[in-house]
Amino acid sequence: MASTETQRHGTQRLSAASIDAAAAILRKGGLVAFPTETVYGLGADATDGVAVARVFAAKGRPSFNPLIVHVADQRALARLVEMDVTAQTLASAFWPGPLTLVLPLRAGHGLSSLVTSGLDTLAVRVPGTELARRLLRAVGRPVAAPSANPSGRLSPTRADHVADGLADAVLDGGPCAVGLESTIVRPDPPTLLREGGVTADAIEKVLGSPLRRDLTPGRVQAPGQMTSHYAPARALRLNVTRRAQDAVLLGFGAVPGDLTLSAKGDLEEAAANLFDYLHRADKMAETLDRPWIDVAPIPEIGLGRAIRDRLSRAAAPRDQA
Ligand code: TXA
Ligand code: MG
Repeated sequence: MASTETQRHGTQRLSAASIDAAAAILRKGGLVAFPTETVYGLGADATDGVAVARVFAAKGRPSFNPLIVHVADQRALARLVEMDVTAQTLASAFWPGPLTLVLPLRAGHGLSSLVTSGLDTLAVRVPGTELARRLLRAVGRPVAAPSANPSGRLSPTRADHVADGLADAVLDGGPCAVGLESTIVRPDPPTLLREGGVTADAIEKVLGSPLRRDLTPGRVQAPGQMTSHYAPARALRLNVTRRAQDAVLLGFGAVPGDLTLSAKGDLEEAAANLFDYLHRADKMAETLDRPWIDVAPIPEIGLGRAIRDRLSRAAAPRDQA
């Protein structure tokens, strides 16, 4: 592999000339850290639930939050999201660039439900670097990417900031020009969810009207994590090991259910299935007229922590969720 410059702790360090090698890794379900104009992202094929689960495992996040999906151009969004006039206006003004739009998902989008944490909206952007857009074109699929740092650490703005072992490969595009994460806006009604690389002033100038602000503490870091987060309509009971007449059972490992998150007890598989199966269990319980969704015990290790965190939020009284 002439394009591989070095390999440390399982992470290939790829030069900017190695786009095809990086794309091949992504298409096989691997993780590639790549440069955008804001920060380096830890990319995974957004249609591959296990690949997306590996992003959360690599970052060591104690909970799931929805990720930003990156595409090469607006055409690649046609099947994924609905764009109203405001969204079109912002996209034309700021893409490619450090603006993320939160838009309604279209039916048949084909993305893993772990990307959106089961929400019916998707955060998307067209990154500003030519290298990122060439990579996305070579992959031919939407790429989900949070910043390429372990949870709680600084976002990387150079390839050598990306820790060994975090990704299968790092594509080196030099330092990031912006060095700040993208600004996040929900266009309907125009609302600022996170400050970032594009100023609110610049956005307001283009819109010709002030933005609402939804930057309350806690939402700044993870706006998708609060009340808007997906929770099933049925009440959840956790750590259930036996089938009950009044519930649909979500199984795991040694506890088979009506739906089983992972029969072999694989936490990446369980994470990949989590939101989709919660939706399906909710529908099944409604059809069968059962008031509960029961969930088998999930071990408190690795991705199991994030799965348990999400389940306990869904099980909590709704005013605390
Ligand atoms: O500059 C950036 O945006 C970088 C580069 C890699 O593109 N990415 C990044 O991703 O900062 P991340 O995962 O660290 O931040 C994503 C943010 C989170 O705060 C998440 O809650 C929010 O976007 N988000 C994602 N989907 C959302 C949704 N449907 N509704 C509201 N917020 C959402
Ligand atoms: Mg981050």
